[in-house]
Amino acid sequence: IESCIRGKLGRVVEYHDAIDSTNIRAKRLAEDGALSGTLVVSDCQKAGRGRRGREWVSPSGTNVFMSLILRPDILPGSASMLTLVAALAVHEGILRETGLETSIKWPNDIVAGGKKLCGILTEMSAELEGIHYVVVGIGINVNMEGFPEEVSSVATSLYLELGEKVRRSSLIASILEAFEGFYEEFISQGDLSGLISVYNSCMINAGREVRILDHAGDYTGKAIGINEKGELLVEMQSGEVKHVISGEVSVRGL
Ligand code: BTN
Repeated sequence: IESCIRGKLGRVVEYHDAIDSTNIRAKRLAEDGALSGTLVVSDCQKAGRGRRGREWVSPSGTNVFMSLILRPDILPGSASMLTLVAALAVHEGILRETGLETSIKWPNDIVAGGKKLCGILTEMSAELEGIHYVVVGIGINVNMEGFPEEVSSVATSLYLELGEKVRRSSLIASILEAFEGFYEEFISQGDLSGLISVYNSCMINAGREVRILDHAGDYTGKAIGINEKGELLVEMQSGEVKHVISGEVSVRGL
């Protein structure tokens, strides 16, 4: 992997054949002072974690499981925007490496043909004044040839979409390279204002009816796009535009 990497992100790579979870390992390394840009990669995970405490199935030999340590100089409240930066990077990295045009399901799932290809789990350690570190965990279904029946209607892999195998190390390098460009843009602005149009152009929800489930209830509206904070703007039938904050909601296409 290191031989493929040109920029600052991933200059230090810790590789494992097997590990509990690359996010857990990255958090430990970050606690011990690892540099921003350090990457943990594993061939498989014994306790891969998804969002909402779900398991992330992590078999060996086929997929990408990686976690990137970042130390951005931003307020803790802005950290969730990094997840959208990561989604853009995965989208762009896949495009550059394979030519496959995927979509982003707000805030941070990557989908192809309506099925999930990649999930991102961002975790952070912070206090009021600032962030100690952020760990961006990325799991991509790369060369899996099939899925158990119960998930095959919702999950896919690059192999299933493309009909050919993808070199995982090159894919990781392409994602990191794309990440670097988007990350610099994000840091220089302090928000996503410079990335709104590129994000909206690859977001599957844009212009579509969505159903939002959050603490305020269950409602539907038309997704317009994101704003500079990464919130999803949803136009209700009344004309009112709701700002939906990631992490608190479940979004379903209709
Ligand atoms: C989701 O639920 O969509 C997020 C899934 C994130 C999975 C990745 S795989 C690498 C990293 N290590 C983990 O334990 N989880 C993330």
